Formats: sequence, structure tokens, C-alpha cells
Amino acid sequence: MPFSYRVLSTLTASLALLAFAGVAIAQPPPPKAEGIESDDYKWNEMIGEKMEALQLTGDLENGEEAYEICSACHLPSGAGRPDGTFPQLAGQHTTVVIKQIADIREGRRDNPIMYPFAKTLIDPQELADVAAYIETLPIPTDNGKGPDTNLAEGEKLYKRDCTVCHGDHGEGNAEKFYPVLAGQHFKYLNRQIEEIAHKKRRNANPDMVKIVVKYTPEERTAVVDYMSRLEWPERAKK
Ligand code: HEC
Ligand code: HEC
Repeated sequence: MPFSYRVLSTLTASLALLAFAGVAIAQPPPPKAEGIESDDYKWNEMIGEKMEALQLTGDLENGEEAYEICSACHLPSGAGRPDGTFPQLAGQHTTVVIKQIADIREGRRDNPIMYPFAKTLIDPQELADVAAYIETLPIPTDNGKGPDTNLAEGEKLYKRDCTVCHGDHGEGNAEKFYPVLAGQHFKYLNRQIEEIAHKKRRNANPDMVKIVVKYTPEERTAVVDYMSRLEWPERAKK
């Protein structure tokens, strides 16, 4: 990528950061695409730039360069923050990263804070590059854990309802777009499960939503507490 473009995109990102800090700069609002709130919603429909990016081979060197802007929030290690503001990304499946970013760019997952930065990836190739790079980062195990108030209940629920997709170690499933949850911060998981339960995580898998809407608030906290303790040795930081 030409140097001048990278400078320009860094500049755009800095402006967006200023806007994020409360300085009023006019930004076009993110688009809106139909999600779980709509009867016509089809989960993970194979359309648009996601499909293109999935067919490309990511270039790790360009991915590392493109990730520089992302590291301002997600950190260079990809570990995010235990306070739950920024999720941990390290070791996430390439397919999952591509899907989540495409959903954010197309307005199927609302993320106004990150939207301007998601736009700095210039094309499906760069989306594939950054996703491939993120997958190579080792998963930290010192992530933020839950309050340990009802772990036995959390374990029971996880094994009964969630393992089928998210796996014994929180390893997810790359081919099926099920995310890695190992190493994820409790506070972020907690925010997501509340959004899932209230149909605000608009790109969510409907089969998961059907299960989670039946949970009490205590059950939701217990299950994500258990999740925050999952470790996937294969990709964990040694
Ligand atoms: C200004 C801060 C910021 C920047 C810069 C940023 N992100 Fe994010 N990102 C977030 C926030 C906040 C979330 C979680 C939003 C939510 O709670 O739904 C997020 C979520 C994500 C997710 C979804 C994670 C998951 O587990 O589903 C991915 C993938 C991601 N970011 C990748 C990137 C990439 C790649 C870049 C660089 C092109 C980037 N982010 C830049 C703030 C940022
Ligand atoms: C049918 C498969 C499936 C089942 C069953 C399932 N999930 Fe999920 N889960 C997903 C997918 C797919 C995503 C990513 C959202 C998306 O793009 O659809 C996800 C995302 C999540 C997230 C957000 C993770 C992130 O990185 O943002 C949480 C939290 C979560 N699931 C919790 C649960 C819990 C708790 C259960 C069990 C009660 C469960 N899931 C059962 C498929 C499933």
C-alpha cells in the first residue's frame, strides 16, 4: 500500500479518536442493515465483501501494518482490556474476524465507536490481511475473570447449552463462524450476553438467542463467568 494512503488513513483515525473524545467533528453515521429484530433476517448470509474476503489469502505483513490503528484500542498484543471496553481479539478465527468486521461495516452489528476505524481497511484483501494477522497472536490467559459467585451453575449451563457451538475449551469453530471465547474478558462477555438476551446484538445467531432469552439475569452472569475462565492451550500464550 502506498505510504501516503497509510498516512491519510492514520489521520482519519486520529480525527475519529478526537470525535470519540468528545470533540465535535461531523462524521457520516454508520449504515443500518437488517438484523435479528427483523423477520427477514438470515444469519450469516453469504453476501458482500465478507464472501470476497473469505476467498482471499491474508498477507500477514500487510495485516500487521493495517492492525496498527486497531492496536490503539485492542492493544498491540490483541489482549483488549479487562474493564470490558475493548474485547480481546488475539487468536480469534480469521473467519469470525471477517464476519464481525463486515457486519460492523455494513451496519448489522452496531459499534459506533469502532465504525470509523473499521472503515480504514480499504478493501476485502486488507480485511483478510488483518484477520489473518489477528489469528496468529497468542491468546492471553490473564484476562478479566468473573466474580466467582455461582460458577457451578455457570458450568452446568455452559456444558448443557453452549459447548455444542463454543467448544469445551471456548475454541469455537472456524468453519461455522463460531467465535473463540477462551481468554475473553468477563465484562465484555457480560455486556454481549445482555445484548444477546435483549436482541441488541443484531448479528447474533438465532439458535443461540432462543436459548439465552430464557435465562434469568443470574444465569446469564453465571454462564459468562464460567466462560471467562476457559483456556484453549493450543493457541494460548506460553
Ligand atoms: C476506538 C477504539 C477501537 C478501534 C481503534 C478498533 N476497535 Fe475493534 N472494537 C472496539 C469496541 C468498543 C468493540 C466492542 C463493541 C461492542 O461492545 O459490541 C470492538 C470489537 C471488535 C471486534 C469484535 C470482537 C468480538 O469478539 O466479536 C473485532 C473483530 C474488532 N473490534 C476488530 C478491530 C480491528 C481489526 C480494528 C482495526 C481496523 C479495530 N477493531 C479498531 C473498539 C475499537
Ligand atoms: C448455534 C451455535 C451457538 C450456540 C448454541 C451458542 N452460541 Fe454464542 N455465539 C455463536 C455465534 C455464531 C456468535 C457470534 C455472533 C454472530 O456473529 O452470530 C456467538 C457469540 C457469543 C458471545 C459474544 C462473543 C463475542 O466475542 O462477542 C457470547 C457472550 C456468547 N455467544 C454466549 C453464548 C452462551 C452463554 C451460550 C449458551 C447459553 C451460547 N453462546 C450458545 C453461536 C452460538
